[in-house]
Amino acid sequence: MTGLNKPQHSTADERALDDVLGVMRPSGIHVACRAIRDGDQALLLPEEAASVTSKVDRMRDASGAARHVARGLLRQAGLADAPLLKAASGAPVWPFGVVGSMAHDDAFAIAAMASAASFKSLGIDIEPSEPLAQDVAAIVKMPADVVDGVEERLASRLLFVAKEAVYKAVFPRDQVILGFEDVAIDFTRSEGRTRAGRRVRLVYSLTPRIVVLAFEPV
Ligand SMILES: CC(C)(COP(=O)(O)OP(=O)(O)OC[C@H]1O[C@@H](n2cnc3c(N)ncnc32)[C@H](O)[C@@H]1OP(=O)(O)O)[C@@H](O)C(=O)NCCC(=O)NCCS
Repeated sequence: MTGLNKPQHSTADERALDDVLGVMRPSGIHVACRAIRDGDQALLLPEEAASVTSKVDRMRDASGAARHVARGLLRQAGLADAPLLKAASGAPVWPFGVVGSMAHDDAFAIAAMASAASFKSLGIDIEPSEPLAQDVAAIVKMPADVVDGVEERLASRLLFVAKEAVYKAVFPRDQVILGFEDVAIDFTRSEGRTRAGRRVRLVYSLTPRIVVLAFEPV
């Protein structure tokens, strides 16, 4: 989440994003979203509320919205409704047998989950569908990154989102903090690669939000 603005989004916006997520998700990966509402922190279960350390209302609302969405996905998959605690590393702790990821921007919270029998890892990130500031773009883009074929106006922001999604996918496995220079993205191959050699598949959308899903099939 890169901003603390409070844009208002209707349920129609929510449905539009949900429709895009439904089309982009690979088979076996479940994804859903929620427009973050004031007071969504009340959706945190008591154990979750204690593990989410931010004191900022908008951040807590975002974490509550993301967990509400994530628990809905667990229920749809026929799994027990479990609290999704935040580990000291920041990573969410998913129930045994499940891989998953959560993200929020200034307006929407999203979550993705899949069976660990089918996917080794999953990472998701979301950002507004707007160009990235040039100074940030210069830090994110490395010579090894390939953005050919991506709408130029949004390429840097998409690259940023992809690297964060890859990081969220691989961190629970490797427990290593990565910088933008440690992840190479190739959109022509729909692939991300970490400095340690881990390869992660990518799918993305550019509108109505930039969303990247990073995943390692078993
Ligand atoms: C993990 C990280 C990328 C999240 O980015 P963000 O813009 O702050 O927040 P997002 O809304 O995109 O995602 C937040 C969610 O990511 C998840 N998350 C946080 N740390 C994580 C980690 N180490 N591994 C996997 N998921 C993590 C949490 O579910 C969190 O939601 P919560 O606070 O409600 O529990 C960021 O906090 C971080 O640790 N960055 C350092 C590494 C990095 O960015 N390197 C450059 C890219 S390789």
